[in-house]
This record gives sequence, C-alpha cells and structure tokens, in this order.
Amino acid sequence: MDRFETKTVHISHAPLGEERSKTTPIYQTSVFAFSGLEEVEQYYAGQRGYLYTRNGNPNQVELAEAIASLEEAEAGVSAASGMAAIMAGLLTVLSPGDHILASDELYGGTYALLAKELSRFQIELERINLKQMTSLDGHVRPETRMLLLETITNPLLTVVNMPHWIREAKKHGLITMIDNTFATPYLVRPILFGADLVVHSATKYIGGHSDVTAGVLVGRTDLIDRAREIIVNYGASLSPFEAWLAARGVKTLALRMERQCENAQQVAAFLRRHPAVRATYYPSESDVSFFHNPKRGAMVSFSLRDESQVYSFYRSLKWIKLAPSLAGVETSVSHPVTTSHRALTEEQRQASGITRGLVRLSVGIEADEDIIAELAQALAACID
Ligand SMILES: Cc1ncc(COP(=O)(O)O)c(C=O)c1O
Repeated sequence: MDRFETKTVHISHAPLGEERSKTTPIYQTSVFAFSGLEEVEQYYAGQRGYLYTRNGNPNQVELAEAIASLEEAEAGVSAASGMAAIMAGLLTVLSPGDHILASDELYGGTYALLAKELSRFQIELERINLKQMTSLDGHVRPETRMLLLETITNPLLTVVNMPHWIREAKKHGLITMIDNTFATPYLVRPILFGADLVVHSATKYIGGHSDVTAGVLVGRTDLIDRAREIIVNYGASLSPFEAWLAARGVKTLALRMERQCENAQQVAAFLRRHPAVRATYYPSESDVSFFHNPKRGAMVSFSLRDESQVYSFYRSLKWIKLAPSLAGVETSVSHPVTTSHRALTEEQRQASGITRGLVRLSVGIEADEDIIAELAQALAACID
C-alpha cells in the first residue's frame, strides 16, 4: 500500500462505528462534548482526541496526515489557507531580529506577508536570485534562520535545483521551507532531499476543484508541533467542511495530475510554435531531472508578442475562464500583473519578467485538442 497512487486513495479516517460509513463523516462541530471532568483531564494529558475545532478536528487531521504521508514527512498540520500555512511555517522559525533568504520568484501573497507584515516585527527579508547564484555564501549572516523557495515558481514556472539549495542551506544551519503547491508530491517530495518544512496551498491541486480554500504544512514533528500552536493561537484553523473537501480532492490527485501534466505538455508545444507568442514558460526535461516523476507540471505561462493585445486575448476566450487561481479540473487563465503579482512595484515586475503581456494558464483535464483550439482562436484575435 505504499505506492503514491494507492496512498492517495486510502487516506480515510472513517471510524468503523455502527454505521460503517465508507468515507469520513464531516465533523461539522465547533466543540466536542465530554462525559465528565475525568475526560477533560484525559484530553489535556494527550489521551483523548478533540476539545474545540480551532484546536483540532478529525477532518483537519485527516487532511494533514494525508499530505504528510504523500510528502513522506513526519507530521503535518492543516490551516485556513495556503497563506495561513506559510505564516505558521515562517513564525515557527523566525523571531524579531531574524533574517530570511527567499527566492526572488515568490508568489505575490508570500512576498506581501514578508515585506508588509513580518517586517513590522523586525524580520528582515532578502530576496535572492537563485538562478544566478551557486552558493549562499555572502548572503548568510549570524541572524539568518531560513531559506524559502517554490519548487515551480509562480508565475514564470522556473525550477531551480532544489536539492542543491537544500544542501547549501543545511551547510549554513538554515531551516528550509519549500512551497510545493505547483508541483505537488505527485511530482516531487522535497522532504526526501532534506527540506525541513513543505507547504501547500491546498486550494490548488490538492483540492483540485476550485471549491475550497485551505493550506497544509508538513515536516519535522518538533517544527509542526510548534506550527500547530501558532495556528491555534492566531485562529488560523481550517473549517471541517473545507478540510473534508480538500481531503476528498487528495483521492484523485494522481489521476488529475497525470492528465493535466500531459495536456500541459501539448499546450506548451503548441504555444512555442505560435506567431502571436513571444515566449513560453514551461519547465524543460533537464529542469525536472530531480523530480520523482519526470512530468513537468500543469501550469504554462506565455507572453504575447504584442502586449497591447492582452485585453483582446482575454476577451476572445469562449469557455476558458479568466480566474485568478489555478489547478482546478477546468482550464483557466489569469493575468499575474493585475492579480497575483499586483503587490509588486513596476520595477520589481520588470526585473522579474512579469510583464503586462504575460498570461498564466492552468491546464485542466479536458481533451487537449479542445484546449488548443480555444487558445488558437483567442491568439488569432491578437494577430490582426
Ligand atoms: C505558490 C502559492 N503559494 C501559496 C499561495 C497562497 O494560497 P491560498 O490562496 O490558499 O492562501 C498561492 C496562491 O495562489 C500560491 O500560488
């Protein structure tokens, strides 16, 4: 039962009570009842499960344990969103006066959390260009605690040599946190390369149906125990129903990823040949050489040759929805400059290549010919 595909399906915590429910019930309760004060004591002694849903709920635990198992991590905790999970991971490690190194290609929300919020607590962010560096020497200071990077970056889909950067961070005694949202454990499991923490916006591929907002953080037990306390204290716990939906999504993760990655490869090949497209961003075979599964992800970004046609492109789409998220079973597009990367200054966007003509495509499970035909007709509108 230890192959990835099998594990995704058999995550259920369904208690085989009298009713013998095949799937896990939704524990839609804010609190749990006790038969007497003895049971309350047992809870605090760690001998009884649940007290209050903000502190813990079987659906939250099911999701967290499923992702911990798929990522091959010791422990996991779920959170109200990907951002809540990232916040918990950061605050587990960082204190006032600390310094964090983070890839300069980061999800805009993660950048905003560090630059606008954690900076108020004297936590200093230094953005580094991992594509142009070979070592962390010269960046690590006595107060540096952490290295943060995304496996496949948002939105330019850059893949850096993660095993190398984890080794570098270890050399300097830093904790590494990897945002594995775009790759998922189907493609790569950073813990196996020595990452301390792995974080997911479960809103994306884990949930897979654009109907849930959730986050999961997995990693070393001591770190996760502290992260759990932070989530409880900050009130960033996941609702039981959202946890249930995300856990249901896990069961089809491998199937969806297989199909979405295959479609994305066809779409990337089509875009590369199209005259209205200036550049196509999609990981190469050598980029993903350390992945456990040689597929290259299901996100494809591209820039239009004529930036002024960007409104026309989005208007011409007939059934692919413009929606500023990703990873659902339906193909969708987003425009990073006006949504996910809005928090960046024009200068930062130019420096990182996130231009006005950049389109981010989340490839779904439809027939690849239909996706390509839809894009072809919208791109045709950008030529004349
Ligand atoms: C790579 C990445 N990490 C984290 C997040 C934040 O997740 P959430 O929206 O679930 O808070 C996102 C959201 O788009 C993301 O793309």
